[in-house]
Amino acid sequence: MNRLLIVDDNEDIRKQLKWGLGRDYDLDLAENADHALTLFRKHRPAVVTLDLGLPPHEDSSEEGFRCLTEILTLAPVAKVIVITGNDGQENALRAVQMGAYDFYRKPIDLDELRIIIKRAFHLASLEAENRRLLSTTLPGMNDCLGIVGQCPKMREVFAMIRKVADSDASVMITGESGTGKELVARAVHAKSPRGNNNFVAINCGAIPENLLEAELFGHEKGAFTGAHARVQGKCEYAHQGTLFLDEIGELPLSLQVKLLRFLQERVIQRVGGRQDIQVDARIISATNINIAKAMEQGTFRDDLFYRIGVVTIDLPPLRERGEDVLVLANLFFRKNCRDLNRKIGGFSTESLNCLRSHDWPGNVRELENRVQRAVIMTNTRFIEPGDLGFDDQPPSSADDPSPSVTLREGRETVERRMIQNALQEHAGNISKAAEVLGISRPTLYYLAKKHDLDQGNHA
Ligand SMILES: Nc1ncnc2c1ncn2[C@@H]1O[C@H](COP(=O)(O)OP(=O)(O)OP(=O)(O)O)[C@@H](O)[C@H]1O
Ligand SMILES: [Mg+2]
Repeated sequence: MNRLLIVDDNEDIRKQLKWGLGRDYDLDLAENADHALTLFRKHRPAVVTLDLGLPPHEDSSEEGFRCLTEILTLAPVAKVIVITGNDGQENALRAVQMGAYDFYRKPIDLDELRIIIKRAFHLASLEAENRRLLSTTLPGMNDCLGIVGQCPKMREVFAMIRKVADSDASVMITGESGTGKELVARAVHAKSPRGNNNFVAINCGAIPENLLEAELFGHEKGAFTGAHARVQGKCEYAHQGTLFLDEIGELPLSLQVKLLRFLQERVIQRVGGRQDIQVDARIISATNINIAKAMEQGTFRDDLFYRIGVVTIDLPPLRERGEDVLVLANLFFRKNCRDLNRKIGGFSTESLNCLRSHDWPGNVRELENRVQRAVIMTNTRFIEPGDLGFDDQPPSSADDPSPSVTLREGRETVERRMIQNALQEHAGNISKAAEVLGISRPTLYYLAKKHDLDQGNHA
C-alpha cells in the first residue's frame, strides 16, 4: 500500500481522514510541522496533505509554508497537496508557485480529496518511472566524443566513425539539418592520427561564389581589388590536418572543378599565383541535400562525388532515434541547469509525452533550443509542455473552427468551449472537471480565469 502523510493540527480532521482514507493508504498523521518533518524523513511518502495553518501560528500560514519548503528541499519530487481555509486562495496559489502539487479548500469533501490524492500518487509513480528510465539509460549510453545516442542507427554511426578515423579516406556526412553532422566531422578528426593538427571548417553555402575561391585557396597580393597582402586559404591551414567542407552541395560547379583538381593532384594555386603548393589535408564534407539527385540533375559532379564520398555516414533524423530523444533531452536539461544555475525537478509526464511524439523537423538542434528555453522560462518545479513551446491543449476535431481563423485562435476557441462544457457538466466542480479534461486543478483555475469563465463555488 502507498504511504500518505497527513498534516493537520485539528484532531477532528485527522480522525475524519484516518477513517476515510485508512483503508486505501498506510497513514502517517502529524499535528505540527516538526512531527511532520520527522515522519517525512523516516518514511519518505510520495504524497503529503498539508494544512497551512499550523501551531504555533494557527492563524497565519507561515509554519505551513516552512514545512512545505523543507519537504520540497528534502524531496523535490514529493507531491504536496496544500489544504487551506475558505479565504485561502492567495496562499494556495503561492504554495503552488513554491512547488506544491495542488491545493484544496476546506471544508473537506472526502470523495473529492480522494480523487486528488489518487491522481497525485499516479503522477508520482509515472515520474518515478521516468526517472528510472532516464537514469538507467544514462550510464549505459553510448557516447562517442560528445555525440550521444544509443539507438541501433546511432550505434552504427559510432562504429563507422571508429572504423574510418584511422584511415585517410575522405568522408561525406549526410543528414537533415541539425542532426549533428559537424559534431561527427569533428569526432572523425579527433579520433584520427591527425587529431592534434588543425580542423579547418568552411561553409560552402555561406560565402559568395566570387569570394569562395580565395577563401579556399588563398590569394596573392594584388590578385584582385582589395587584395592588399598575400593570404593563405583554408586548404593551406588544413595542411596535415582536416578540411571540413560544410554544405558541399552548395559548391558552385566552377569551384567543383578546382576542388577536384586539388583532390587529384594534392596541390593548390593561390588566386593570382602560379606556384603549386603541396597540401596534405584529409577531406570531410557534409550536406543536407540529396547528392544522388543533384548528380542526376547535373548540379553536382559525379567525379567529385567519387573523390569526396569514399565513405558516407548517414545520420538518421531525430524522429527515427526512439528513446534517444529523452536521453538527449536529459543531457541538455542537466547541462543548462548547471550553466544557468537552476534547480528544476525534471520534465512532467505531459512534457515527456510531447518530447516523444513531436516530429522534430529541426532535429537535435531544435531539441537543444527547446530544452534551453524551457530551463530559462519555467517557473514550476517540472518543465511543462508550454515551457518547451508545445501547446498543451490539442484542438478538438469534433467541432472544427472556421478555417478563416488562425490556428491559435481556433485552439483558444476550442479550449474555451471544452472548459465551459466540462464546468457546466459538473456543475462547477473543479476537481471533476479537471479530471475529465485531463489537466491539474491549478491549470484549470488558470484557464478558467483566462477565459473569464465562472468557476462555481466548489473547491
Ligand atoms: N548526438 C548528439 N549528441 C549531443 N549533441 C548533439 C548530437 N547531435 C547534435 N548535437 C548538437 O546539436 C547541435 C546541432 O548539431 P550540428 O551543428 O553538428 O548539426 P548539423 O547537422 O551540422 O546541422 P546543419 O545541417 O544545420 O549545419 C549542436 O549544438 C550539437 O552539439
Ligand atoms: Mg552543420
